Amino acid sequence: MVRIGVLKQQDGRVMLVPQDCQHLTRQELTILTEHNAGEQAGFPDEAYHQAGVQLTDRQTILRQADLLLSLEPPPPQELAKCKAGACIITLPFIAWHPEYAREVAQHNLSLVALDAIPRITRAQSMDVLSSQATVAGYAAIVLAAERIPVLMPMLSTAAGTVRPVEVVVIGAGVAGLQAIATARRLGARVYAFDVRAATREQVESVGGQFIEVEGARQEERGGYAVEQTEEFLRRQREVIAQYAARAYILFTTAAVPGKRAPLLIPEETVRQMPVGAVLVDMAARFGGNCALTKDGEEILWEGRRIIGDSNLAARFPGTASQLLSRNIANLLPLLIRDGKIQPQIDDEIIHESLIVFQGEIRSARVREHLNTT
Ligand code: NAI
Repeated sequence: MVRIGVLKQQDGRVMLVPQDCQHLTRQELTILTEHNAGEQAGFPDEAYHQAGVQLTDRQTILRQADLLLSLEPPPPQELAKCKAGACIITLPFIAWHPEYAREVAQHNLSLVALDAIPRITRAQSMDVLSSQATVAGYAAIVLAAERIPVLMPMLSTAAGTVRPVEVVVIGAGVAGLQAIATARRLGARVYAFDVRAATREQVESVGGQFIEVEGARQEERGGYAVEQTEEFLRRQREVIAQYAARAYILFTTAAVPGKRAPLLIPEETVRQMPVGAVLVDMAARFGGNCALTKDGEEILWEGRRIIGDSNLAARFPGTASQLLSRNIANLLPLLIRDGKIQPQIDDEIIHESLIVFQGEIRSARVREHLNTT
């Protein structure tokens, strides 16, 4: 019988919510959840108990779980305590941190990297990056809207007319598009940049205006943008600066797998923004799109605010967990068969995301990064 262990996350999200647990326990799976794991997300222990989940302490879960769920990658000292042969399902951002695969392999465990699930249609229901980016895009705008000194929509009142706020979004991926839609709902005028020309239509469909900087490398790798030339980035910085000069909100999400995030907002651009403007940099974890960004910090710089937050989804842990949990519940049947952990290795989704299997690093890309091929 497979035992699934759910670890408590520092950021308040939880990887399985009671509703999905109930469904899984009916399929004869045992679920162990750390005490208070869902509390911040609005799911008390009592709800887990009623869903047939066993509530216990972290050490017991590490010792007993065959499948260990933790968005935050368990550190080496916890890997050492895991049950022999356990499979860790986590979000290591493996393209940037291939060394985590080595840690897992050294402990003879298996690793499913949720960030390596391929961006294909069939995998959409399991795509944690997308579900969390949806929440993050919304969170970024709500957060910034509360910090700026002005209202977002146009208002015609007896005391005069208020102009709509201008918002600039850089990187129209999942988070960027949700941010555009959210800012539009609040009445802002929204401009968006991306290097992938295909995003123009998507930006326009949610009410944004797409600003094209010509000459971007259009190739994609697994659906992701590739690194741009320094000459292109220089021109892009110039155009962005013109739009940022009128924007009260700037939301940056531009990322390229395995690379430092492109530097698109130098100090000078921030200085030209209105006093009271807010920049939310979601690429903070990968070095930031703004030169002033500090990951995990909110700083006030010459009257403008720069929020470096790679974990925006955790600001709404309830919705983030509900979506995350469904992603995990959809992924599990590809890992469990006949009451045992038997990953369907020939399935493209598992082929890409099962980075380590029983102590062996399977992913050619990760091996290449680690120079072990
Ligand atoms: P991401 O978080 O990796 O990057 C955000 C955005 O930044 C991307 O749109 C990228 O093109 C853009 N970017 C990179 N360099 C830039 C630069 N210098 N200036 C401006 N923008 C820049 O993106 P996300 O949201 O994870 O999506 C990546 C890809 O996967 C997209 O093609 C998306 O459509 C696709 N996708 C497919 C799914 C599926 O079919 N299962 C689900 C979700 C996304």
